[in-house]
Amino acid sequence: RRAPPCVFVIFGGGGDLTKRLLVPAIYNLACAGLLDEGFSIVAVDWADLSDEVLRAQFNEALQEFVARRGTAATTLREDMWTWLSSRISYLRGSFEEASTYAALSERIGSGNAVFYLAVAARFFGAISDRLGESGLVTEANGNGTFRRVIVEKPFGHDLQSARELNRRLLGVLRERQIYRIDHYLGKETVQNILALRFSNGFFEPLWNRQNIDHVQITAAETVGVERRGRFYEGTGALRDMVPNHLMQLLAMTAMEAPVSFDADAVRDEKSKVLKAAHCVGADDVVRGQYVAGMLGGEDVPAYRDEPDVAPDSQTETYVAMKLAVDNWRWAGVPFYLRTGKRLAERRTEIAIHFRHAPYALFRDTPVERLTPNIMTMHIQPTEGVTLQFGAKVPGPTVRLGGVRMKFDYSEWFSDGPSTGYETLIYDCLIGDATLFQRADNIEAGWQVVQPALDWGAHVGAAPLCAYAAGSSGPVEADALLARDGRHWLALGA
Ligand code: BG6
Repeated sequence: RRAPPCVFVIFGGGGDLTKRLLVPAIYNLACAGLLDEGFSIVAVDWADLSDEVLRAQFNEALQEFVARRGTAATTLREDMWTWLSSRISYLRGSFEEASTYAALSERIGSGNAVFYLAVAARFFGAISDRLGESGLVTEANGNGTFRRVIVEKPFGHDLQSARELNRRLLGVLRERQIYRIDHYLGKETVQNILALRFSNGFFEPLWNRQNIDHVQITAAETVGVERRGRFYEGTGALRDMVPNHLMQLLAMTAMEAPVSFDADAVRDEKSKVLKAAHCVGADDVVRGQYVAGMLGGEDVPAYRDEPDVAPDSQTETYVAMKLAVDNWRWAGVPFYLRTGKRLAERRTEIAIHFRHAPYALFRDTPVERLTPNIMTMHIQPTEGVTLQFGAKVPGPTVRLGGVRMKFDYSEWFSDGPSTGYETLIYDCLIGDATLFQRADNIEAGWQVVQPALDWGAHVGAAPLCAYAAGSSGPVEADALLARDGRHWLALGA
């Protein structure tokens, strides 16, 4: 189904996100025939650019993107680029001045519009206020015309600021006009968690405290803070990854079945489960920061030696947490979360560890030594699902060994969307908010991490532990599980 005609306004249209992800995603939608003839892009930014220069920059970024993709089409489709580039224009202006919005109003006219805030978070409130004042987000009654706003992350800095930002946006917009992005929800494999759970009969009977021992959620990165030292210093791993991305993974894994696949039904269930999740005490949180080490055979500097980072920085680049989900389904099942920069391996996954067999039928192998039954949902870099279980090793004696069954996304389905933003942009154009966060979802995510933020702020309550770049994180994070007689799945093995 083609999306309705729309002017797609990008604040921060000259920025990195627009070039690397938004324009390629829109190009992919155009190639898939999902955009209307009446689609156009207006990029708004400070820099002194002409339409031609902006188009040339987008073209260059697209060429790179298409080449990097390395699948069937490794060259840009000229016909598509001609179609798209003729619809791109630039508007130079300040995000805070009324004149920018007056000029925008002229470009947009009276039809549908989406405003994408691909700007630093400090502009979110001001842009939304100006959009309100200028009448640009007023939806004409009765004729079905829409005006929507997409908000990037970070949405707030803590629970209180997230609430304030929600209040500010909701002073101007209706909830149904706001599309809060979490780019994890654009990942095919994240969306697949719900498909897996709710389109199959055999998982559901096992998906509970009777059968599941614990859950491990990992988002490990090998990259450091790249060029984002200044941003990261004031943010840290906890704020950067946990209330948003990891909470979304937890919610998809642990939520109850929604009554329908309607946006609000799904988001109701997510909020419910996040409200049940909490961190019990300060010793359930481990904060780490990388010191110098080796990654991929190369020396890597310490976080404190990265550009724009204070030499005595207390910002965590790693965090591990143990959460309890206090509800009927999950009582007593710990959820262990970890995320960090400069770890041994890039890997995002959710591993469901099932309880072991109840009785030691194989006398030489006590139940504790049986191969753990683990179902892992791999999100990146490989996308798929594996099941690990025990089997008899061939031979005359009964010996048990661990085996794996693997479903690999790329083997089954050839050419998936590439940036993760295609679905999100398309869904916003057609008015489907299922994969976007509602105000209460965002606040529920912050609510889970707020105690950990508070403990981190009090020196001593959640001290900063060192780990070498290229390792699997601080030893204190291993101790967090060892204390419960468990261990993390190995990284970089
Ligand atoms: C972003 C964080 O939201 O997610 C980054 O700000 C992080 O620090 C990134 O690197 C991870 O995203 P992905 O898609 O590479 O897992």
